[in-house]
Amino acid sequence: MGAEDGSKDKRVVLAYSGGLDTSVILKWLMEEKGMEVITLTADLGQPGDIEEIKEKALKTGAPEAVVVDAKDEFARDFLVPAIWANASYEDKYPLATALARPLIARLQVETARRVGAGWVAHGCTGKGNDQVRFEVAARALEPEIKIIAPMREWIMTRESEIEYAESHGIPVPITKASPYSVDENIWGRSCECGILEDPWEEPPEDAFDWTVSPMDAPDEPLYIQIDFEGGIPRVLDGEEMELAQLVTRLNAIAGKHAVGRIDMVEDRVVGIKSREIYEAPAAVAIIEAHRDLERLTLTAESLAFKKLLDQKFAELTYQGLWFSPLREAIDEFNRKIEEAVNGSVKMKLFKGGATVVGRSSPGSLYDVGLATYDKGDLFDHKSAAGFIKLWGLGLEVLSRGRKSEEKEGKK
Ligand code: ARG
Repeated sequence: MGAEDGSKDKRVVLAYSGGLDTSVILKWLMEEKGMEVITLTADLGQPGDIEEIKEKALKTGAPEAVVVDAKDEFARDFLVPAIWANASYEDKYPLATALARPLIARLQVETARRVGAGWVAHGCTGKGNDQVRFEVAARALEPEIKIIAPMREWIMTRESEIEYAESHGIPVPITKASPYSVDENIWGRSCECGILEDPWEEPPEDAFDWTVSPMDAPDEPLYIQIDFEGGIPRVLDGEEMELAQLVTRLNAIAGKHAVGRIDMVEDRVVGIKSREIYEAPAAVAIIEAHRDLERLTLTAESLAFKKLLDQKFAELTYQGLWFSPLREAIDEFNRKIEEAVNGSVKMKLFKGGATVVGRSSPGSLYDVGLATYDKGDLFDHKSAAGFIKLWGLGLEVLSRGRKSEEKEGKK
């Protein structure tokens, strides 16, 4: 399979979910563009049987259907940096989809190199962030790669897609079409469209899938403990496990207590404000716990400075600039800083809340001898007076200057 026979120009790696859109695209690329389509499906913990998806791609005409269990890679290379950075776009969205896209793009580019494909394709529309993330990531990794986005060229209604699928022998899911557009991986679930497009409307219960309503959550709180090592959650309730597994486990536990529902209006890269519903029980609990442990173990200066980088990290991730030197440099900063973030966090899960109620660390900077108002106080109260004198000296000088100006003016 070399470029010599021109096959590279006709060979494309399609990011394939197995849904109606990407199935129709697979056929369309073959028929309308005369391309040979290799599909790439990454298992990031979304529902659906990956082997069935593979079968469907082969049946629809792909000569090769690549499937990758990428959950551990996702956790190691994307969730660890996100946890370090307490990643939340516009202070709310834990970035599940935004973190997954650069990984899928990387797998696509790797596959394209292996099979000798000159193109990558995706099923995103022209209005969203995902097209930006896929394409910027692919070109950052492989500047010569060519991109085809059929959904931007060929805008179809669901009805005409179904018609196209039926007339081309593509199996159409019999399940009643959901009124929502959903994307899922272990870090979270997003839900858009339908009634949710009215930002005044409270999301109906059927918009949620991972969490119960706080009204249906248990009346007894559940206490959990997360132990961190180097800023990474390693142990859940005494059991050590891989991060992907810990996240999956925690989604189930915290979802039962209605933790992780997010309703927000956010700013897309393409200039649109959109209303989004997210469910991210594990992400919300882990980031809350991690932030708390940082407060115990990092110095005041580190915390204040890191906050700026955390925000930048979230923006870069959301905006598709994952494979950028700035994002990588923030990672290296965090790698160093997070060496101190070790210890345990005790959380209470109760009717939608994930509240930190206790924390401890071998490297805790909290000194009870300094903090206490009871006996055993070691703080040097007398030296506070001298400190305050110098701390306020600049303002004192300023005030004195103003006073004498006033006097001058009155003369
Ligand atoms: N608004 C979110 C984001 O930009 C979710 C996108 C969901 N994508 C999708 N194809 N349904 O990350």
